[in-house]
Amino acid sequence: MPTDNDPILVTCGLPYANGPAHIGHLRTYVPADIFVRALRRMGHDVLFICGSDAHGTPIVVNAESKGMSPRELVEFYHKHFEDVFRSINVRFDYFGCTDDPSNHHRTQEIVRALMDRGHVYPREIELAYCPRCERFLPDRYVEGICPYCGVPARGDECDQGCGRHLEPGEIKEAVCKICGSRAEYRKQTHYFFRLSAFRDFLLDYLQRLGGTASARNYALEWVRQELKDWCITRNMSWGVKFPGSEDLVVYVWVDAPIGYISFTEEWCRSHDVPWERYWRGKSRIIHFIGGDIIYHHCIFWPAMLEGAGYTLPSDVVASGMLKIDDKKFSKSRGYVVWVKDDYIDQGLEPDYLRYYLASYTSHTKEVNFSWKILQEKVNTELVGAFGNFLNRAITFAVKNFDGKVPEGELDPEVMKRIERSVDEVSSSLMEYEFKRASDAVLSLADYANTYFQSHEPWKLIRSDRRAAGSVLRNCLQMAKAMIILMEPFMPSKMAVAWSQLGMDSLDNIQFRDAAQPIPEGQALGTPKILFSRMEDSTVKKLEEIFRERIRRAEGAEEKVEEKPMISFDQFKALDLRAGTVLEAERIKGSDKLLRLIVDIGERRQIVAGIAKMYSPDELVGRQVVVVANLEPVKIFGVESRGMLLAADINGNAVLLRPDREVPPGSGIR
Ligand code: MF3
Ligand code: ZN
Repeated sequence: MPTDNDPILVTCGLPYANGPAHIGHLRTYVPADIFVRALRRMGHDVLFICGSDAHGTPIVVNAESKGMSPRELVEFYHKHFEDVFRSINVRFDYFGCTDDPSNHHRTQEIVRALMDRGHVYPREIELAYCPRCERFLPDRYVEGICPYCGVPARGDECDQGCGRHLEPGEIKEAVCKICGSRAEYRKQTHYFFRLSAFRDFLLDYLQRLGGTASARNYALEWVRQELKDWCITRNMSWGVKFPGSEDLVVYVWVDAPIGYISFTEEWCRSHDVPWERYWRGKSRIIHFIGGDIIYHHCIFWPAMLEGAGYTLPSDVVASGMLKIDDKKFSKSRGYVVWVKDDYIDQGLEPDYLRYYLASYTSHTKEVNFSWKILQEKVNTELVGAFGNFLNRAITFAVKNFDGKVPEGELDPEVMKRIERSVDEVSSSLMEYEFKRASDAVLSLADYANTYFQSHEPWKLIRSDRRAAGSVLRNCLQMAKAMIILMEPFMPSKMAVAWSQLGMDSLDNIQFRDAAQPIPEGQALGTPKILFSRMEDSTVKKLEEIFRERIRRAEGAEEKVEEKPMISFDQFKALDLRAGTVLEAERIKGSDKLLRLIVDIGERRQIVAGIAKMYSPDELVGRQVVVVANLEPVKIFGVESRGMLLAADINGNAVLLRPDREVPPGSGIR
């Protein structure tokens, strides 16, 4: 672990720019941010880097289904993650994107270096190919059966069965995700990274790897079993071009971690520091990641770095999983808490969530999140113990000692207790034991509360003002220590508390300053309640939002949302007409959309999201009901002038039609 003067680089796994941030993400980012803040307060030179992961098939597929380009989708979520991190006080020095030019550049440099050194070779493999879409089907474009366990699998991962990573061509009984046709297998040349040759290197490297034991042990287990060479190219256009090839890009798991390097370069460029300081020299590189991507960070990544001649990571810190209300986290089943919508936008304190995630259990264990437990932790630990002491001590001093830190002796016992807390917090954090660290601060708060209580300054003040002053100075000293040590966990709240102590800025304060005597006569700030209780009514409201999402996910109650009353004139403003479908075809690249030509007294082109329910053939000749005066829109690049009416059954469309054949163009009333 970092003890010397080597520069430290801390990174967090890059979030896919493919959907909003949920608190499962924060399980990695918040502890990493706490760690970085603490390292700085221990005097280390640290750079903190992250960014969005822009490539890979899920992003292309998702962008297509939303009628956006991959770049538009990535830009949207890139900004979303930046906003979320800002609002939750996670402060990266640099937040890049793997589609930035510098990452294209660095990735190609590394791939070329690997090729030059003989670590990459071409091989012809058989890949799923859709004869109807006339394309190869990389990763998420294909569904089929896992060759290892026989369970349905998608693309590059057996997500419902054995959990294995599937190499291109491995999936059996492949079906095209776009059009549903049975895929063929066709030969194509791809490029492989000679991972098998890195076995001895990895066995040795992993024994020495720091971080959590979970990461090290899983990785060692996998390396001992078998290392297959790794296909690092894909048939797509979205991604980083494979050097010397027109139609191949590198696999997303090649260019994503290289983002750690190119983002460091970007930061270094604007700060006039050579990036080689971190990636070619003696440095400590510490990766914080989710427990599901250990394989990529402990096997693929160090082998690539070793092969291309870069500095190897010293630590991989893998976080445990997150449960919601004791259920497995699942976006589709509604067991999810979105950071922005469900937390920040509800006006909840960012620091409460940080504290929860760090102090619930040890970093590698499973965290269970529920609003009830949040309430309990906030009300007993923060309001009851920590906040209560700060408020009591500062209020008492302000009232009885003229708003100043009273004169008095610092008790050696108290100072020893503070030193012990500093040691405990520091050493726990260096071992990635975040709960142990925050518990150590809480235990100092308990000690301080007992100290205040047992010395009864409210009595002493009448008999021995000088002695009461000493008690209070010791209390304020402990308050100072508690604030400094808690700052990495709750930076916003501790900045406020710091000013209540009458201190200037927390910026350059070190952990060891916790035992620096608080100056007698220092003017205190205005005491105010730091932590407010979470009320039952708040918790009820939050739980209701959560329950409602699960209900909706279960589709248990398909309730039609009530809308405000409209006038007859407003109704008449709609141009509704009966029509007859003349032509229908699928829109290439989408599994939901059909392009229709409908006769509504005139020929109209309409795009309808009904491909999952209706085949083009069964639609031709059918009568439908159309909103004819809806503003034209472009969907998937195809203009749509009108909309078909349909009943909405769990998001699936069931078309309305006239009760018997009517002339196309008939008005509806
Ligand atoms: N986007 C990946 C995920 O969420 C993580 C990429 S981490 C990196 O699983 F190292 F590849 F950058
Ligand atoms: Zn197809």
